[in-house]
Amino acid sequence: MTNFSGKSAVITGGASGMGAATVRLFTAAGGRAILVDKNRDLAQTVAEETGAIAMIGDVSDSSFCNDVIAAAVTNFGKLDIVINAAGIIVRSNGVGTTDEQWHRIMNVNVSGTFFMCRAAIKQMLKQGAEDSAMRGSIVNFGSIWGDLGAAGVAAYCASKGAVHNLTRALALDHAQDNIRINAVCPGEVNTPMIQSERNEQVTPELMARLASTVPMGRLADPAEVARVALFIASDEASYMTGSLVNVDAGFTAR
Ligand SMILES: NC(=O)c1ccc[n+]([C@@H]2O[C@H](COP(=O)([O-])OP(=O)(O)OC[C@H]3O[C@@H](n4cnc5c(N)ncnc54)[C@H](O)[C@@H]3O)[C@@H](O)[C@H]2O)c1
Repeated sequence: MTNFSGKSAVITGGASGMGAATVRLFTAAGGRAILVDKNRDLAQTVAEETGAIAMIGDVSDSSFCNDVIAAAVTNFGKLDIVINAAGIIVRSNGVGTTDEQWHRIMNVNVSGTFFMCRAAIKQMLKQGAEDSAMRGSIVNFGSIWGDLGAAGVAAYCASKGAVHNLTRALALDHAQDNIRINAVCPGEVNTPMIQSERNEQVTPELMARLASTVPMGRLADPAEVARVALFIASDEASYMTGSLVNVDAGFTAR
């Protein structure tokens, strides 16, 4: 793992799953982080464990996102990295998706990612020289379902497709500014999202069924994705922008 001492980050969805794994690895590698999440209890637990600062709120609120970036500058003096892992899923086909579900998932997954990116980029443009190696970098969480279609998750697929192309467009907007914007696209990962909005219980049989869809035959541990997200965010990945990086054990190779 890269040494992140001297680096500051905002990590959304940092209370659970891959966001929490990212907070743990980043702080263990010397970085200072603001962990953003709407789940107060879980956020405080991860913050106490890692020394991250918890900010509780909803990323679909643009003024909250602006406040988060301002807090990073107040606490750390600058903002090097933003990792947008906050996200939700709706498990329904297209005709079964309600207006409320559609707007909710678009608000969190698409608008939330956009609002955090916009606030972060405005700050990154103010810091560092235009010709410096790195003004800042952003990693958004896409998904294999942002590229592939899948039955029963229509709004989720649409939201992640939007995150992918938002990532590419912002990367091109700021390619000359030394601000890198990429996405990590996980496959099947063993996090609480597996249970979220599912009508059936998560049993060993369900987990085995999910694993059998993956070429490597298993789900990812959240840290296996977090390590890739942090590599992309780090200065080691200085020639990467606008990339969508699959971390999917071969899922999209077929
Ligand atoms: N688990 C998977 O298999 C998988 C696969 C591909 C992509 N992803 C994506 O990876 C990201 C992380 O997912 P995870 O599996 O770790 O999920 P998770 O449910 O474990 O964690 C998501 C976190 O985001 C927070 N959150 C949700 N809505 C929020 C909001 N409006 N404001 C602030 N915080 C909010 C939740 O409280 C939670 O702590 C998500 O964007 C998800 O869509 C997950």
